Amino acid sequence: MNLVFLGPPGAGKGTQAKEVAKEQGLAHISTGDILREAVKNQTETGLKAKQYMDAGDLVPDAVVVAIIGERIQQADCQDGYVLDGFPRTYEQAEALADTLGQHGMTLDRVVYFDVDAAVLVERLTGRRTCRDCAANYHVKFMPPKADGVCDKCSGELYQREDDNEQTVRNRIDTYEKLTADLIDYYRQRDLLSQIDAAKDVAAVQADLKAILD
Ligand code: AP5
Repeated sequence: MNLVFLGPPGAGKGTQAKEVAKEQGLAHISTGDILREAVKNQTETGLKAKQYMDAGDLVPDAVVVAIIGERIQQADCQDGYVLDGFPRTYEQAEALADTLGQHGMTLDRVVYFDVDAAVLVERLTGRRTCRDCAANYHVKFMPPKADGVCDKCSGELYQREDDNEQTVRNRIDTYEKLTADLIDYYRQRDLLSQIDAAKDVAAVQADLKAILD
């Protein structure tokens, strides 16, 4: 099963993708996580991507398309994957279709996480992320058991640099300008399922399960 999770920043794509991947035995591919790791390790890709990520802009298509082209051919993708945060532009969607075609793969479903922009700022400015395992928490909606400490690996929780209010607002604008059109793109190809991502985490998870079952 090959899936795309589509939606604005803070819609809950990453939170749900981790669970779905675990439950269904799929690889979880988050372009944001891959790029953050590249920035941390100061690779060539990381050095190129950092300025865009810090500003809340999209990293150039060629960079992320190359990352996904390599990643989906790795062994853990054999039984399928969840693409979280990719594609984000028409060009990326077309490149994905080409790459899948070349490898005899298809997309089974695109899940659109529908949520009002007003909710997103609170979700993102309150997010805390584990430095070691990238698990996500929220100071109000999903607090860790101990302040600042990851429940899963005891790593340190930090606030992502792009989770400040000004950058969050730019990320939302960027989504509206460049990514939101993909909703219709995938609806026209009869691949789109929509979920109400304003519900709480457990309710969204249940709705998602119903779609995927
Ligand atoms: P990326 O890391 O992908 O960020 P994003 O799309 O902005 O998505 P988020 O991770 O912020 O949100 P999410 O929907 O995963 O929400 P989450 O589950 O964490 O990308 C970062 C940057 O990398 C981009 O700005 C860009 O520069 C670059 N980039 C990445 N991919 C790219 C691409 N394809 N092309 C070009 N550039 C790219 O949840 C958010 C918070 O809400 C958490 O605290 C969580 O605990 C909480 N929460 C989750 N669900 C709920 C719920 N149902 N109720 C209440 N709280 C909830």
